[in-house]
Amino acid sequence: MTQAEPKARTEQLANPFRPGNGVVPPYLAGRDAMLNAFDEFLAERPLHANWALTGLRGTGKTVLLGVFAARAEHAGWLTLQRELGERHRDDERLAEALVEDADALLRRASMLAGVGQALEQGVRFLRPRRVTVGEVGYEPAYAERSAAPADQMRQALSELDVAAGDARPRGVLLLYDEAHLLADDRARERFPLSGLLAALGAVQRAEPRVRVILSGLPTLSLNLKRARTYAERMFRHLVVGNLERGDAWDALGIPLATSGRRFALSVVGDIVEQTGGYPYFLQFFAAYVWRSVSANEVSLADYRAVEPSLLHELDLAFFDDRFEVASPTEQRILEAMAREAGAIRLPRLRQHLPEQAGMDLLVRRLVERGLIYRAGRGAYDFALPLFRDYVRRRAKLTELTRSVRSAATGVDRAGDVQ
Ligand SMILES: Nc1ncnc2c1ncn2[C@@H]1O[C@H](COP(=O)(O)OP(=O)(O)OP(=O)(O)O)[C@@H](O)[C@H]1O
Ligand SMILES: [Mg+2]
Repeated sequence: MTQAEPKARTEQLANPFRPGNGVVPPYLAGRDAMLNAFDEFLAERPLHANWALTGLRGTGKTVLLGVFAARAEHAGWLTLQRELGERHRDDERLAEALVEDADALLRRASMLAGVGQALEQGVRFLRPRRVTVGEVGYEPAYAERSAAPADQMRQALSELDVAAGDARPRGVLLLYDEAHLLADDRARERFPLSGLLAALGAVQRAEPRVRVILSGLPTLSLNLKRARTYAERMFRHLVVGNLERGDAWDALGIPLATSGRRFALSVVGDIVEQTGGYPYFLQFFAAYVWRSVSANEVSLADYRAVEPSLLHELDLAFFDDRFEVASPTEQRILEAMAREAGAIRLPRLRQHLPEQAGMDLLVRRLVERGLIYRAGRGAYDFALPLFRDYVRRRAKLTELTRSVRSAATGVDRAGDVQ
């Protein structure tokens, strides 16, 4: 390559782009409307006391939760952000988490009320006697600690509600990430989501001082609707999607403007188009180009030269894992879908895989995994930009490996592949 001198220079510049999990981007593009809506949500008595924030993986939900928490704290609210896990599908575990969170928040509330260390310790170690925290001006109305998880959840939230009613803080906001995991399971008699909704309903009846933002994959919305019919009145549903073209340009252009380096407009344009404004990919592409091109000004030719290795790294870092979570039968469906240029209807999919039983269920699972989405009545398409190309690349590679192997073992190549 030609740029020994510029290389020395660019090495000193920090890469502004940040592909990662919940990593704050150098510029939060395209979310102004949502942030304004959030400020209003805090300032007013909103129509819906809670939010459900849904979007595919890598669209920026966790980042937004962090920004919401910071804004709410700034406005005088107490906040707590938690990433839910598989174990919270169990209502006992979810109740435990909620009680833990209420404890942590009450400790902070008591500090705010100026009572200080001694009481804080007391609250922590004598949890069942927490009712005596009345010294700081609130007396949770609770009779007996009940073993039922739903009651524990209601109790935890009502204690927070009383604390918030004390006027400091202005309110309490729980931000729960990965909340699509909270589905009721009738067969196992586990009702974490219904329990949480009932507790919220009880505590928000008079004044919604304690509020929740649930964030997760799109199935969260469905789970909420299934859990309680009145959840519709409790939750405002907001979708965190890919960035509009102009916002995607800003996501790259604004950090670059102060970075000390330049990407040719055609490079930025190509990244915006290829990634479809998908936030994680925007960061990934830009970070990769930044570190693998040494010229200070990245030309289209520089970009094209590193593109194959960029895509290869994307396969390893992103697509392979996502493809592997699908079962072998689900993978066959993805491969059949990749043979089409766009959305595919179920009858057509059945033509591709005539021997495959239970197609509806398999497709639904792929939707739940966030790999495909319903693009219209009975039609499905890939949920992630570039995923179709990936599946095609992969299928070609698998075919190649097979043919090399069969050649080596003397099996008739055509017979093996067909
Ligand atoms: N508005 C935005 N503008 C530019 N980049 C963004 C924006 N939002 C998120 N990103 C970037 O996208 C990546 C993914 O963000 P984040 O982890 O918040 O997504 P997520 O929706 O929580 O994903 P997952 O479902 O996998 O948890 C991060 O690298 C982040 O910096
Ligand atoms: Mg996340």
